[in-house]
Amino acid sequence: MASCPDRCCLYDTQQIIRQRRLISLAILLLVAALSAFLTISLAVTPRLNATIDDARLNTFTFTFTSSYLTYNLSLAVTVTNPNKAIGISHTAPLVAVLAFHDRRLLRNSSTLVLVGEGYQQRPGKARRVVVVPAVEGRMSGGLLGAAAEEEFRRQNATGVFEVDLLLSGEIKNYPLVIVRKREVGARCALRLQIAPPGPEVVVFHQVNCEPAKPDNMFF
Ligand SMILES: *[C@@H]1O[C@H](CO)[C@@H](O)[C@H](O)[C@H]1NC(C)=O
Ligand SMILES: *[C@@H]1O[C@H](CO)[C@@H](O)[C@H](O)[C@H]1NC(C)=O
Ligand SMILES: *[C@@H]1O[C@H](CO)[C@@H](O)[C@H](O)[C@H]1NC(C)=O
Repeated sequence: MASCPDRCCLYDTQQIIRQRRLISLAILLLVAALSAFLTISLAVTPRLNATIDDARLNTFTFTFTSSYLTYNLSLAVTVTNPNKAIGISHTAPLVAVLAFHDRRLLRNSSTLVLVGEGYQQRPGKARRVVVVPAVEGRMSGGLLGAAAEEEFRRQNATGVFEVDLLLSGEIKNYPLVIVRKREVGARCALRLQIAPPGPEVVVFHQVNCEPAKPDNMFF
């Protein structure tokens, strides 16, 4: 423009270039943030880890005359969110049941809620420690089945009982990600001897629970 002094034109041009740079930078940042969001959302599956930190088998006896298995077990379970990038939120209670020889011990008396619905665990090592003073109950031999009864005799002779704690729940990732919800399950295989009565401490080596299909647990 002929009427515009050179100084002014130069200033305008510089302004325009600066603005364009800012806009490109903003777009670049937006794209970077969006791809990070998508990568985390799609690549990171919500997961949980569980360990049994302590277990004490107070009672595990089968009375053949009345055909009843009586059990009493105390436990300490730790549930963690292993992901460093995302948090998890429990969309259903994380429940646990005891099983012996793949037979779930009575449902009503033995379903434990380890983590309530809505509980959130931040990224990183967010731990939830649950101490269960006693999971106890009686199960009739009829429900247990002949194979499990036979297995009881075998294990009773060795003095070591193999009892599984089965966990099942449902979690989703959160926040600032595309929500992915999934069912989760785990099997914690315990090998326990009957603890002596009284307060005597029994040495227990931590057990890592293995991922398992939650569907497999409803037998
Ligand atoms: C289960 O064991 C604990 C610890 O020994 C005991 O305090 C509790 O009374 C037991 N429960 C039953 C029903 O025997
Ligand atoms: C579990 O349910 C059965 C049958 O519904 C009942 O007989 C039993 O008393 C219940 N046990 C407990 C501990 O609630
Ligand atoms: C289990 O083992 C104990 C001790 O070894 C024994 O006294 C008991 O009779 C056994 N019970 C069964 C049902 O085999």
